[in-house]
Amino acid sequence: MKMAKLRLLLWISLALGSTGSSSVDGHTEGAAKLESYNVDAGETSVSGLSSGAFMAVQFHVSFSSTLKGAGITAGGPFYCAEGLISIAVSSCAVTPALIPVAQLVLLTKSDAAYGFIDSTSYLENSRVFLISGAKDTVVVQGVMEKLDEYYSTFVKSENIARNFSIPAGHGQLSNVYGSKCGTATVSSPYIINCDYPSGFVMLQHIYSDITYADDNAMIPENLLEFNQSEFFAGFPGLVSMDTTGYVYVPTQCQKGSACRLHIAFHGCRQGRGTIGDVFAVHAGYNGVAEMNNIIVLYPQVVKSTLTNPYGCWDWWGYTGPFYESYNVVAGETSVSGFSSGAFMAVQFHVSFSSIVKGAGITAGGPFYCADGYFSLAITRCTFSPIFIPVDYLMALTETYATSGLIDPTSNLESSRVFLISGTKDIVVVPGVMTKLEEYYSNYVKSENIEINFSIPAGHGQLSNMYGSNCGTSIVTAPYIINCDYPSGFVMLQHIYGDITYADDNAMIPENLLEFDQSQFFSGFPGLVSMDTIGYVYVPTQCQNGAACRLHIAFHGCLQGRGMVGDVFAVHGGYNGVAEINNIIVLYPQVASNILINPYGCWDWWGYTGPLYGVKEGLQMAGVKRMLDRIAQS
Ligand SMILES: *[C@@H]1O[C@H](CO)[C@@H](O)[C@H](O)[C@H]1NC(C)=O
Ligand SMILES: *[C@@H]1O[C@H](CO)[C@@H](O)[C@H](O)[C@H]1NC(C)=O
Ligand SMILES: *[C@@H]1O[C@H](CO)[C@@H](O)[C@H](O)[C@H]1NC(C)=O
Repeated sequence: MKMAKLRLLLWISLALGSTGSSSVDGHTEGAAKLESYNVDAGETSVSGLSSGAFMAVQFHVSFSSTLKGAGITAGGPFYCAEGLISIAVSSCAVTPALIPVAQLVLLTKSDAAYGFIDSTSYLENSRVFLISGAKDTVVVQGVMEKLDEYYSTFVKSENIARNFSIPAGHGQLSNVYGSKCGTATVSSPYIINCDYPSGFVMLQHIYSDITYADDNAMIPENLLEFNQSEFFAGFPGLVSMDTTGYVYVPTQCQKGSACRLHIAFHGCRQGRGTIGDVFAVHAGYNGVAEMNNIIVLYPQVVKSTLTNPYGCWDWWGYTGPFYESYNVVAGETSVSGFSSGAFMAVQFHVSFSSIVKGAGITAGGPFYCADGYFSLAITRCTFSPIFIPVDYLMALTETYATSGLIDPTSNLESSRVFLISGTKDIVVVPGVMTKLEEYYSNYVKSENIEINFSIPAGHGQLSNMYGSNCGTSIVTAPYIINCDYPSGFVMLQHIYGDITYADDNAMIPENLLEFDQSQFFSGFPGLVSMDTIGYVYVPTQCQNGAACRLHIAFHGCLQGRGMVGDVFAVHGGYNGVAEINNIIVLYPQVASNILINPYGCWDWWGYTGPLYGVKEGLQMAGVKRMLDRIAQS
């Protein structure tokens, strides 16, 4: 389990900045670029309500070397949800007796040991204020008690203060604005007037020299909008972030005075898209901030229909359990695939030949074999290969390369290709693979192409450990055949040349991770027949920062997660070799779609549109984004 350390770090580094301020960018419409101010190092703190409270805890624990303290209203311990929405809405909200604090403390220490979060020793001198309304039925007091217990293992007890006695429901506590105190019923915008200036109380506890001021001390013009896009690689929506955030910058801070920085995380249904700037204006920070020279950053989440309909901060994993990028060696990425995954692997290899070093193909055919027609896919590209027009497909390849839809084919010359076809395959007959060999031979140096078309296998991924009987044409789900042939090793060895053999037993089960694919498909993977979840195998050394290679393995039809769970990802024959040789294996997952793709095949005939097989193909580009994420440094 890892935190979004790199991405979150962007926030803080940009926001902390150093002295000096550029002028507001007057050339763009909409929100301006976030400026830098003269921020005191070591004087930054966070707070949050509800999902923002869980976020504030995550942020505090992850960046404890940078943060001085945290104010938490209605939240719970670090990784309370353990990556699952089901736990988020049960244990971490209403059944706190089930929160395993000791285990979460261990997880925290292990994350710190791996370097995913800062050393927990920084927390000792941190200052923490905990607020829980006595009438809160959404995140009940027991959850905050567990948080208290969690923090107490790291933070000196005299540094933790709490108020659990205010008769408030679930909301941000104010002394100026909001709904009635004393009732469990709270509605939007979830700010409650309990005559309790929680912003002041938290900041005073964290900094201890704060002068009281109420919201009226706020100067409305000092609340600025800023452009959040630049902090999310231009695509904030992919991780459910709004394009625009708010920041309150006191007059003195705008003039260059040394100021503190506080980050306030709103709760679910409290983002800009839902209530505008109400949280940023009325949460109770800006008046105190104006008087005490504290810049208050209000980053804004946006709703995402499928993954995050209420606009909550991610504290259960809708942006994926791993956000970590790894130390991936450039130029050492390869692909392989079986059946529809084989056609996909060929497409991916030919389209992205500038970055894909080699391909292992089991039971597939040439680039654009189906030429956009399902009828051709299931005829010439499966059992009547004599009709595959290799010359035409090569001409098409050149046209696409010339127009930039795919990388120049000259990259393929030094690529390495391994082709496997079972002699008893009656689904994609060996003749289709022969056509693929003919196709590749036009581009790839002949000594770089190796084939094995002599194993008496039917239609399946070949293994030496797992699967159905070799020697027969009859193969059923999960389409893995034990032919005493370690195809994963054989392909990787041919592509890389220096691979040490290991069998599937060398796999470490915990290193096979699930991740959220939605973020790579604009939040709607189902629209392009992709699953919400994918798998990635990350060898221990790669998790520890070793330089690693990256391989993408595309499953066949009827082999995705919705059909066989993780069987292909576990038994496809890659992970043991990967563990021993430091290769990260990405297993993107297709989902079946009753109308366009009932068997859950990769798109190699056009159900996502005519550009299905080139760089901007909807599945192709999504997988490329996954690859970029894993490899980004
Ligand atoms: C909580 O705040 C209320 C209102 O300010 C105060 O009366 C009460 O003493 C506080 N409780 C604790 C435990 O600090
Ligand atoms: C916000 O930033 C992004 C990425 O830096 C940029 O492409 C976009 O034009 C900016 N938007 C505005 C309104 O300035
Ligand atoms: C294919 O693999 C089998 C099993 O390892 C081996 O006996 C055979 O020689 C290989 N054929 C080729 C052409 O490499």
